[in-house]
Amino acid sequence: MTNEYHVSDYIYDAQIYDGFNTQLDDLEFYKKFFHSHKIKKVLELCCGTGRLTIPLHEAGINIHGIDLCQSMLDEAIKKARDKKYQIKLINEDMRTFTINDTFDAIFIPFNSIHHLYLNEDLFKTLKNIGKHLTKNGYLIIDYFNPSIRYIVENENKSVKIADYETSDGRKVVINQTMKYEDDTQINRIKWQYVINNKEHSNEFLDMRIFYPQELDSYLETNEFKIINKFGNYNLCKFGADSPKQLIICQKK
Ligand SMILES: C[S@@+](CC[C@H](N)C(=O)[O-])C[C@H]1O[C@@H](n2cnc3c(N)ncnc32)[C@H](O)[C@@H]1O
Repeated sequence: MTNEYHVSDYIYDAQIYDGFNTQLDDLEFYKKFFHSHKIKKVLELCCGTGRLTIPLHEAGINIHGIDLCQSMLDEAIKKARDKKYQIKLINEDMRTFTINDTFDAIFIPFNSIHHLYLNEDLFKTLKNIGKHLTKNGYLIIDYFNPSIRYIVENENKSVKIADYETSDGRKVVINQTMKYEDDTQINRIKWQYVINNKEHSNEFLDMRIFYPQELDSYLETNEFKIINKFGNYNLCKFGADSPKQLIICQKK
């Protein structure tokens, strides 16, 4: 099994991705945060199809986005071009990107950090972020609060996790099975896609799990101080039953 970035193309097929992720309330959180903290310039790491990038630009935020996956980025570029928005959308890796600029906030939204499989990938990314943040700039990371119970109960079972229609008219059902690796902390996820009632393909998505105390200490030892840790986008304090870990930090 690999520890290199591994996600099947179809998982991040732009139409399939956008059709699946329509019910999220992270956008309001980011809008409020950037406005209330008078943030001028923002960098979104792993911006994907621009699900957040485009509406944040529309909310008056000066935002740049980077993503490793060209097909996801192409969708963001198309959305921006259709609306005649000038947004810098760059095909780069969060571990190694270089932009000749600094930002008042950098964020890694919606579980994208789970694609950093090795600690060295995470540390490279944090170092790189540090170089691109202004002195009192913010780093925001949003990821799962992993549930060992959920993994144990659902491992090796096929569970239907989605049933929807894409904007180009495909009926999509996704059945998930997963296998958690105790040594790497990687959850190897398989999504079986059924398109228009026919089995289409099995697609793979590897997610490295970060336990609650783990990333907190990695941030602290990599020159970041945690200002707040919430359990969801409504800013409830992080606790045992929180679905998310939403961390806000600054450089030390
Ligand atoms: C869960 S999607 C999030 C997309 C978007 N930010 C959103 O909220 O809808 C994860 C994204 O991370 C990107 N990604 C994964 N590893 C990356 C890396 N090392 N550098 C940059 N992007 C990466 C993938 O291509 C994918 O678009």
